[in-house]
Amino acid sequence: MRKYLDMYERSLKDPTGFWGEAAQAISWDRDPTVVLDDSDAPFVRWFPDGRLNTCFNAVDRHVDAGRGDQVALVYDSAMTGTVATWTYRELRDEVARLAGALRALGVETGDRVVIYMPMIPEAVFAMLACARIGAIHSVVFGGFAAAELATRIDDAAPKVVMAASCGLEPGRVVEYKPLLDEAIERSRRRPERCLILQRPQATATLVAGRDLDWTEAVAAAAPADCVSVDAGHPLYVLYTSGTTGQPKGVVRDNGGHAVALAWSMRYVYGVEPGEVYWAASDVGWVVGHSYIVYGPLIHGCTTILYEGKPVGTPDPGAFWRVIADHGVSTLFTAPTAFRAIKRDDPEGRHLLRYDLDRFRALFLAGERCDPDTLHWAEDKLGVPVIDHWWQTETGWPIAANPLGIEHLPVKPGSPTVPVPGWDVRVLDPDGNECGPGQIGAIVCKLPLPPGALPTLWNADERFVEAYLSRYPGFYLTADAGYKDEDGYLFIMSRIDDIINVAGHRLSTGAMEEVLAAHPEVAECAVIGVADELKGQVPVGFVVLQAGVDRDHSEIVAELVQMVRDRIGPVAAFKQATVVARLPKTRSGKVLRSTMRSIADREEWKMPATIEDPTALDEIGEALSNLGYG
Ligand code: COA
Ligand code: AMP
Repeated sequence: MRKYLDMYERSLKDPTGFWGEAAQAISWDRDPTVVLDDSDAPFVRWFPDGRLNTCFNAVDRHVDAGRGDQVALVYDSAMTGTVATWTYRELRDEVARLAGALRALGVETGDRVVIYMPMIPEAVFAMLACARIGAIHSVVFGGFAAAELATRIDDAAPKVVMAASCGLEPGRVVEYKPLLDEAIERSRRRPERCLILQRPQATATLVAGRDLDWTEAVAAAAPADCVSVDAGHPLYVLYTSGTTGQPKGVVRDNGGHAVALAWSMRYVYGVEPGEVYWAASDVGWVVGHSYIVYGPLIHGCTTILYEGKPVGTPDPGAFWRVIADHGVSTLFTAPTAFRAIKRDDPEGRHLLRYDLDRFRALFLAGERCDPDTLHWAEDKLGVPVIDHWWQTETGWPIAANPLGIEHLPVKPGSPTVPVPGWDVRVLDPDGNECGPGQIGAIVCKLPLPPGALPTLWNADERFVEAYLSRYPGFYLTADAGYKDEDGYLFIMSRIDDIINVAGHRLSTGAMEEVLAAHPEVAECAVIGVADELKGQVPVGFVVLQAGVDRDHSEIVAELVQMVRDRIGPVAAFKQATVVARLPKTRSGKVLRSTMRSIADREEWKMPATIEDPTALDEIGEALSNLGYG
């Protein structure tokens, strides 16, 4: 542990020296002379006088340095059977032309561009093209419904939306354009233009005067050069679930982000430039931003964009095929993907069909990695399997087994130790540090390292209130857990209403807002219950208005459809039940955590403040009818 500890301690004792050195991995247009400016704490700026371009760092500089013929991007679609590659030179030329097309639409440095696209290479080109001209992208995951897209459009106020005609899910074509049209219809801050990529599986109808055909616009465009921006200039805004229906716009800067990602590729993931790195996630999530697009490209790796699922496209050997076909050295995905593979191929028979010679490590994140899945993956793959912990807000791992420094002994259920730069503490409700094994709120001492969110988009106050006010001087991760006597972290649960469904972060509060909008619902509660495949799934409980006398199954079907329509299929909200009342405290607070404990068959105590204990019996019965509890 010595190597790790030396580096970790130095990162905390001498953050400016540590990150100043790390910054040398980046090509600056103007070298930063100051590493950290905290004169406006709690708002801090990394490399405040540095200037750079993230697209240049991710693409052009590798061509200049002789990597022009190396494959930068592999697009592997299990949905269409397509494989295509772009060298760094080809990627530069694609991105420059697309950036030129954006310019021609009037997009300037600082303008926002919403990207609503499936896992196709044009989504990567779009992100990089924005970065190239200093526009701020905001990618919206394709599994969100029109209303969620509309909320994001309203908050980001984009000049242009970039979208594709459709995404492909097993067994269905998801037409994006009607969703986009509906979202724009609902928005108060409509984009001037939409650039629409027509995929052969569905042709979108273009709105005259607003929508442009992507291919034609690119063909007519002159390539645009990289624009130099301040390190603190926002690279992107990525919306993530908050505790209400109003998502939080996590801001990422250019300079700190590039430095942190380059550092993490080497020291967390232990990857060398030129190696093939694959994050099997989606560009709509932070994992996709950091480790499909920016991290591997900034580091000079080959990155894989995989359009498909771990199982069923066509079989549970899909991941092994991609690893073998493209010589992947490191895979990053969510534990749920491995649970799906294990469920369909428990013996790992499909592994025998492929040569995984170059495969060196598996990283898992997005949710807690259960020990069974960890052991199965270790056993079947014979490589280090690393659970690591991070959040949309942090942009890169807070805790990991830092393979690039040294591979520490694994403790199942733990994402290992804090990564250099992250001063992680566990606090009790009074703000005192918890002892080993004692569960508390996990926080990070300020200032956060480069790459972490500097604020929320147009919401400095919400940023302070949500993250910095509970324990002054610390960033609240909203995860609870403990450190053991060796300093290993264990992440146990969220302290807010966020649940994790198949590695996707969702707010039960937002689902409750949807259910409450049903005219026959008087009150409701949504909880996340443990699920063998997805980790958690949401279950809704509704109390109907007095006098409603309709078939409950009809109402439940309507509620399920409402969540699908308003939040999206990704919410996986499929189960709800009607109850006579919700269990509450005498002051009227719904006892969601007790309900959750009953559902998950955990030990629970009758809350002393409960208003009517029999309400819990009814919840127990409802849960058991749904197959839980
Ligand atoms: N566009 C439109 N719809 C989408 C979508 C997208 N980009 N992504 C998912 N959906 C839909 C799915 O079609 C599904 O719809 P359905 O209810 O009609 O079946 C629903 O959203 C839930 O999707 P998903 O979470 O993918 O569940 P699944 O049951 O289809 O598959 C797994 C289960 C485990 C195979 C899948 O969740 C998986 O591969 N997870 C990996 C998670 C991951 O990459 N996380 C990112 C963090 S690293
Ligand atoms: P997201 O912002 O979508 O990346 O979700 C972040 C949340 O996912 C964290 O706050 C945790 O609750 C959970 N999470 C992510 N990685 C892990 C992990 N390795 N172990 C436990 N929880 C995790």
